[in-house]
Order: sequence, then C-alpha cells, then structure tokens
Amino acid sequence: MKKQKQKIAIFGANGSIGQALCAHYQKQSDVYAFTRNDFDIDESGLVKILLDDFNEDSVFQAANKFDNDFFDKIIVSIGILHNESFMPEKRIEEVSSDQFLETIRINTLIPTLIARSFYKKLKKNDKSTLAFLSARVGSITDNRSGGWYSYRASKAALNMVIKNLSIELRRYNKELVVIGLHPGTVDSLLSQPFQKNLEDSKIFSADFSVLKLSSVIDSLDIDDSGKCIAWDGEDILP
Ligand SMILES: NC(=O)c1ccc[n+]([C@@H]2O[C@H](COP(=O)([O-])OP(=O)(O)OC[C@H]3O[C@@H](n4cnc5c(N)ncnc54)[C@H](OP(=O)(O)O)[C@@H]3O)[C@@H](O)[C@H]2O)c1
Repeated sequence: MKKQKQKIAIFGANGSIGQALCAHYQKQSDVYAFTRNDFDIDESGLVKILLDDFNEDSVFQAANKFDNDFFDKIIVSIGILHNESFMPEKRIEEVSSDQFLETIRINTLIPTLIARSFYKKLKKNDKSTLAFLSARVGSITDNRSGGWYSYRASKAALNMVIKNLSIELRRYNKELVVIGLHPGTVDSLLSQPFQKNLEDSKIFSADFSVLKLSSVIDSLDIDDSGKCIAWDGEDILP
C-alpha cells in the first residue's frame, strides 16, 4: 500500500528558517505554511495560510479550519531579537517594558497560543512532533556572558512551556514528542546585526541548519520530549 504523505504545519513560514523548513519538507510532504506576510516560494506541495496577526482569536480561527488528528508535525519558527525600535540589551539599564513585553509576547506567548489551539490537530494515535525554534541562549546553565535580558528570558520561558506541554500532552498522545530546537547561528534578519564578529564557518545557511534539524527531528523518541536539542543533536541543559 502506498504510504500517505505526511502533513506538516510551519508557523513563521516566511522567515529564513521558516522558508527553508517549507522547501525541505514540501519535497516529500504536504506543507501548510502559516505566515503574516506573503512570500515567494514554489507552491507545489504547499498551501499558504495568511494570518493578519497571531493573536488569540486569529490562531484559534486558523486552527478551526482543520480537522482534529490531521498533522504529523507542527514546527513553530516565529521569533524576534530586535526590531526597528530596539536591539538586545547589553546592560540592565537598557531594559524597557516595551521591549521585554513585546519579546515575551512574540517568542513565548504566540508559540504557547499555537500549542493551545493546534495540539488536537496533531495525530492522536501515531508518532507526531510539536517543535519550537528555541535558542541556546535560553539555557540558564549555559549563560556565561549575560545580557540580552528580554530574548534570554523569553526563550527560557518558552523552554518551560515546552516541558509543561511534554508532560500534559502525553495524556493526549503517548507518542507525541514536544521539543525545542536550537538551529545554530543562522544567516537571517534576526542574526544579521551580530554576524560581524563571527567567522563565516560559524554562520549556517538556513538550508544547512534545516537539514540538520530535520535529522534531529527524525531521530527523536518519546524520552526526548520536553528537551531542547541543538542542530548537531546535542542536548542543551535547561
Ligand atoms: N537565526 C539565528 O541565528 C537563530 C538562532 C537561534 C534561534 N533562532 C530562532 O529561530 C526562529 C526563526 O528565526 P529566523 O532566524 O528564521 O528569523 P527571521 O528570518 O527573522 O524570521 C522570524 C519569523 O518570526 C515571525 N514573526 C516575528 N514577529 C512576529 C509576530 N509579531 N507575529 C507573528 N510572527 C512574527 C516573522 O514573521 P514576519 O516576517 O511576518 O514578521 C518570521 O516568520 C526564531 O524563533 C529565532 O529565535 C534563530
């Protein structure tokens, strides 16, 4: 019997890593690309879902368009480190409410709302994956240089949400793996201002990172659920 194609949802599909995830998975799966902004991509094997915003209502409405027990994988690749109004903080004096709340909203709350509205859309009785792009700098153990208060705090909080989901959603599907992924330093708008002090070999293309992340995803088993794992398969301590 012909094996059914997997159904994979990518959130933040227009970002550098998001687009590379779409391009990688659309070769062998049906990809559902959730994005605020339209982008150019070969649309074979891919359906775009444009959302005005990723607020509570729009995420809930987007989820309602899908049957339960539908997706094999959901990958959330939404995140912010800086924007036109702020850069990551070097010192505590630079912390502002606006930056802190906006960073937590995008990096922690939006992924949590996606999990809330979409987890039942994941396969219920088969192996399935709920993955979030996190970051090594969200590790408290690994923090040796300080700074980046809002971003570090938002990713540490995301890692806690991932751990919580891994415990709670075991009741929904004991074969569901919930995972945080560190992609390495990847050439993208997000990392661009911080690339100049790095050797070229330390900056990955989004395609390379996604190739590595997809083999990490393929190798996951239920004992990994709740962890954060890097592009090379290394466990990142909380
Ligand atoms: N690049 C790296 O070196 C690196 C390292 C560690 C972790 N990561 C993580 O990897 C993920 C993807 O990053 P990237 O490098 O691909 O960055 P990117 O190219 O800047 O993409 C960021 C994505 O987040 C979306 N986004 C930002 N604000 C949003 C909002 N308010 N509502 C909805 N979507 C929003 C963007 O959509 P819009 O275009 O619509 O704003 C875009 O799809 C992030 O979680 C990031 O923290 C990246």
